[in-house]
Amino acid sequence: MQAWGGERLLAQVDRPTEAWIVIALHSSRLGPATGGTRLMPYASFHAALRDALQLSAMMTWKFALADFPRGGGKAVLGLTRPLSSAERAGLLQRYGRIVHELGGRYQAGPDVGTGPADMDIVAQTAGPWVFSRTPQQGGAGDSAWATALGVLSAMQAVAEELFGEPSLRGRSVLVQGAGSVGSQLIELLLEAGARAAFADIDAVAVDLWRRRRGVTFVAPDAVPDFACDILAPCALGGTLNAQTIPRLRCRAIAGAANNQLAQPSDAQSLRQRGILYAPDFAINSGGAVAITGMEALGWSAEQAQQRVRGIATTLRAVLARARAEDIDPHEAAMRQARERLAAAGAHGKR
Ligand code: NAI
Ligand code: PHE
Repeated sequence: MQAWGGERLLAQVDRPTEAWIVIALHSSRLGPATGGTRLMPYASFHAALRDALQLSAMMTWKFALADFPRGGGKAVLGLTRPLSSAERAGLLQRYGRIVHELGGRYQAGPDVGTGPADMDIVAQTAGPWVFSRTPQQGGAGDSAWATALGVLSAMQAVAEELFGEPSLRGRSVLVQGAGSVGSQLIELLLEAGARAAFADIDAVAVDLWRRRRGVTFVAPDAVPDFACDILAPCALGGTLNAQTIPRLRCRAIAGAANNQLAQPSDAQSLRQRGILYAPDFAINSGGAVAITGMEALGWSAEQAQQRVRGIATTLRAVLARARAEDIDPHEAAMRQARERLAAAGAHGKR
């Protein structure tokens, strides 16, 4: 909690489902705390709390780096047992009531385990503080396309760095996790002429993508050992750690997953291994920025796309700073984010 440094934490048990509801408001310095709702099983309250704290902080750095007027927050709905769909809907409605009580101090979107249909349910009780509802309910819908587009743009900047040109044609990319974002990323990679491979632990996703010609299946445990130009972590966090980094056979890492590094010093280990790391929070802001921009600031889909493609420029600046200051890219991105936050504080935006 002390290391977290956030503003407010709300945690309770949802009695009817025995799920933990944790809402972490990390920072409102740049704007109202905004972030996704992660709904999945957790082994302990401690694990759910830890995830909410880390993910909320990452939202703060993400919006700061994207130069977008929002603060960081995150909600975890931690399941302790399987729920029926009626129980699940009840949990989402009660969560929505808490979001409503917070009166806009926390504004919710989707994350792992939730999507636009769930946001429709949350909005029944939360009122206007919910993003990514279905278009039928007046929302901008799923965020995955924009997140994938942002990651693809970042990969083009990475290709420039590695090969001197942004084209991904003929380059090999392994997507770890072919879920909402990973699937759309694979499609974009195929369109760009890349050689795509994927790994997933979900039988349905594996079956679906194995049937597509030209996409190679990699067993989940073999991901670190797979030789490729770019590895794109698009599953859960912590996949870059002391066990996997020594095994990696990729030249660069650029993916959507939040909190890819098990700890910040892992960025140093990657650097020592000569692997170019595109910091997760510098390149996975596409979904949050596009959807929030469209719903709260009235952007058109074209404006949102243009903004998301700008992630390549953000990444180039981070990599240039890392080179200039002789630090790893994660630290460069953190410095950039901290400076933005400090400047906003000085101007009394909070
Ligand atoms: P998702 O739940 O739709 O997809 C995740 C996929 O990863 C699933 O297919 C799952 O089976 C697979 N997976 C889980 N563990 C795995 C493992 N060990 N090896 C291989 N595959 C594994 O989630 P979504 O929305 O695609 O998000 C993916 C990541 O990107 C998450 O970390 C999320 O927080 C992050 N993110 C998502 C955004 C969005 O717009 N959806 C925006 C920014 C970040
Ligand atoms: N899951 C998104 C992220 O981690 C959060 C988000 C999506 C917030 C859509 C608002 C709207 O960046």
